[in-house]
Amino acid sequence: MAGQWVIKLEEVSAGYGKLQTLFDVTVEIPKGEITVIVGPNGAGKSTLLKTIFGFTNVYQGRVLFDGRDVTQLPPHDRAKLGMTFIFQLDNVFRELTVMENLRLAGYDLQEEVFRSRLEEVFNMFPRLKERLGQKAGTLSGGEKQMLAMAIGVMRSPKVFLIDEPTAGLSPKLAKEVLTYVRILNKEGYTVVLVEQNVKASLEIGDKGILVVNGRIAFDGPAGELLRSKDLARMYLGL
Ligand SMILES: Nc1ncnc2c1ncn2[C@@H]1O[C@H](COP(=O)(O)OP(=O)(O)O)[C@@H](O)[C@H]1O
Ligand SMILES: [Mg+2]
Repeated sequence: MAGQWVIKLEEVSAGYGKLQTLFDVTVEIPKGEITVIVGPNGAGKSTLLKTIFGFTNVYQGRVLFDGRDVTQLPPHDRAKLGMTFIFQLDNVFRELTVMENLRLAGYDLQEEVFRSRLEEVFNMFPRLKERLGQKAGTLSGGEKQMLAMAIGVMRSPKVFLIDEPTAGLSPKLAKEVLTYVRILNKEGYTVVLVEQNVKASLEIGDKGILVVNGRIAFDGPAGELLRSKDLARMYLGL
C-alpha cells in the first residue's frame, strides 16, 4: 500500500476561536500504518488530531479524507465517512456492561453484521469475551482502552484517531495498551496515535510526526525520529 494516504492536511492553519495553535501543517497519513504524533506538552498534538476530526477552527488549508475534501464537515459527518476518534478519558459508558457498550456501538447494524463484528472484536481482544457482563466502569484502565478500541471496531472505521490511550497508566499497563494498538493495526486498521510515551510508541509506529510549537518539526519513519539524537534529546526527553 506504499504511497497511499487516507488523510492529508494541506497547509492547514487551525486553532480555537481566535487562538491559532497550528501553523501551516502539511502531512499525510498512510493507509494501513500506525502514525505516531509526539512532541512537548502543549505543542499541538491533540489539536492536530482534533483538526483531522473537525473539532477545531480551520482558518486556512484543506483536510482531505479518503479522497474527498472534508474541511467543512462537522465531526459526526466525518464519523459517518469512517473516522473514529477515541478520547483520552470517558471513552466508554461506565454504567453499562461491556456487551451493552458493544451493542450500543453497533445499534444500527443488521444482526448478521453485528455478530461478525463481535466475532472480530473477540478474536482481537479475547479478554473482553470473558468480561461481557461486567460494568465497563469496573474494568482496569488498560481494559477500558481495549473496550474503547473494540467500540471503534464495531463501526469498522477507515481510521482510528487515538489520543493518549496510555495517560495515567503504569508503565506496564501502558505497554499493554500499545500492544492493543498493534493488534488493531495487524487487523488492517489505520491508526493515528498521539502519545507522550515517546519511545514505546515510536517503537510500534511506522511513521513519526514531531509537533513543536504548532508546527511540524519532523515527518518521516518512526525509527528515524527515535534515533535522531538532536530532536529526541531536545524535544522528547530521550
Ligand atoms: N479547547 C481549547 N480551547 C482553547 N485553547 C486550547 C484548547 N485545547 C488546547 N488549547 C491550547 O492549544 C495549544 C495546544 O494544545 P494541545 O493540542 O492540547 O497540546 P498537546 O496535546 O500537544 O499537549 C495549547 O496552548 C493549549 O492551551
Ligand atoms: Mg494532548
